[in-house]
Amino acid sequence: MEQKQVEPCGTVKGTVRVPGDKSISHRAAMLSALGAGQSAITGFLQSEDCLCTLRAVEALGAEVSREGDTVIIIGTGGVFRAPDGVLDLGNSGTGMRLLAGLLAGQDFASEMTGDSSLLSRPMTRIKDPLEMMGARVDLLGGDGCGPVRVSGGSLHAIEYVLPVASAQVKSCVLLAGLFAKGETTAVEKKPTRDHTERMLRRLGADIRIDGLRVSLGHAGYDGVPDLPSLNWDVPGDFSSAAFFVTAAACRPGSDVRIENIGLNPRRTAFLNVLRRMGADVEAKPVEGSDDEWEPAGTIHVRGADLVGVDVGGKDIPNMIDELPLVAVAAAAADGVTTMRDAAELRIKESDRIAAVASALSVLGVDVEERPDGMVIRGGRRFAGGAPVESLGDHRIAMAMAVAGLLADAPVVIRGTACTETSYPGFWADLDKLR
Ligand code: S3P
Repeated sequence: MEQKQVEPCGTVKGTVRVPGDKSISHRAAMLSALGAGQSAITGFLQSEDCLCTLRAVEALGAEVSREGDTVIIIGTGGVFRAPDGVLDLGNSGTGMRLLAGLLAGQDFASEMTGDSSLLSRPMTRIKDPLEMMGARVDLLGGDGCGPVRVSGGSLHAIEYVLPVASAQVKSCVLLAGLFAKGETTAVEKKPTRDHTERMLRRLGADIRIDGLRVSLGHAGYDGVPDLPSLNWDVPGDFSSAAFFVTAAACRPGSDVRIENIGLNPRRTAFLNVLRRMGADVEAKPVEGSDDEWEPAGTIHVRGADLVGVDVGGKDIPNMIDELPLVAVAAAAADGVTTMRDAAELRIKESDRIAAVASALSVLGVDVEERPDGMVIRGGRRFAGGAPVESLGDHRIAMAMAVAGLLADAPVVIRGTACTETSYPGFWADLDKLR
């Protein structure tokens, strides 16, 4: 198993650019595969997760080529080719759940699989709405898990109230809605990331957003969506930037700038938590940054002494991938941080509540697990010394690397190859900021 030793360094300084947004890259690949012409995706995240999605759309009949970090896709016009084999989505919940929406609109049966983490994640959440729309979805792994077999075609529109706050489920329903007769509506109880809605609007789809209610009108003819082929410019991934934001925010004397970073408000709730903890964080959209598409800009963080806060409620989905970092910042802060309403963390790439609590405990942090979160009594210092486990989860590995920077002694992280899932180049970028 690959492991890394992170040497403590206290303060971090410098300017960094992080790779493209993972959520937007997945969606850009899928929507480009639906168009009839050519799309160029600049800044596409060439990480394991997104490469799985590219291979999947290729197997479904799209033509994919690359020029540097630009990916060129010639689409299928909405009619996919039945793939020769099983589609392998690797570690990617976004890949599997969103693609299920598109496969539900196709006139053939296809099967998706993935690694052991993906095959232990709940898929009933997409089976239910897709079957209400007329597809058949078999979960071949038992217990509501994949492999997922989708037999599609002849979809009809539904109005679906999401039982869980999940952008992946919302997006799955909307993408299936592109193939359905009538108007498809997804109603959320809490706001989640809205990249799919923004992209569909940019494609000229008949999409209406009224608070937490998103409706998509009929998008084509005879169950085939009629979408143009556009070029996409993917900003840097806020969730990747968040590792360096945290490293800088926790230590007076640190000063880090991250450029060309996505600043979609449905992604940046973590910055508000850091500010409540006393962090000095400035996020500035670049002049002319397209708010209708995806706002992007620069984040500038100067280190400060942080204090514990309560985190929970409707903002949780808008910082869901940053919650391991809330725990790291809380451990470096004075006082108590209570995290609530985050039970979804238990069914991510790993059980992130257990993973974070156990890794931080190894580092001497006082952390107590709760069913839907954790309580952290901050002590400003991480002991270092003993090895911590990533459990094969990219965000745990990188969050513990941040803890390692802030620790008193080197921290060995076991299972670090998984960072390729979302952030190739992470370790080199971390080194740049020492
Ligand atoms: C994502 C949505 C979130 C997030 C994941 C990416 C997306 O998952 O955690 O990393 O691209 O839609 P859920 O929809 O399961 O909350």
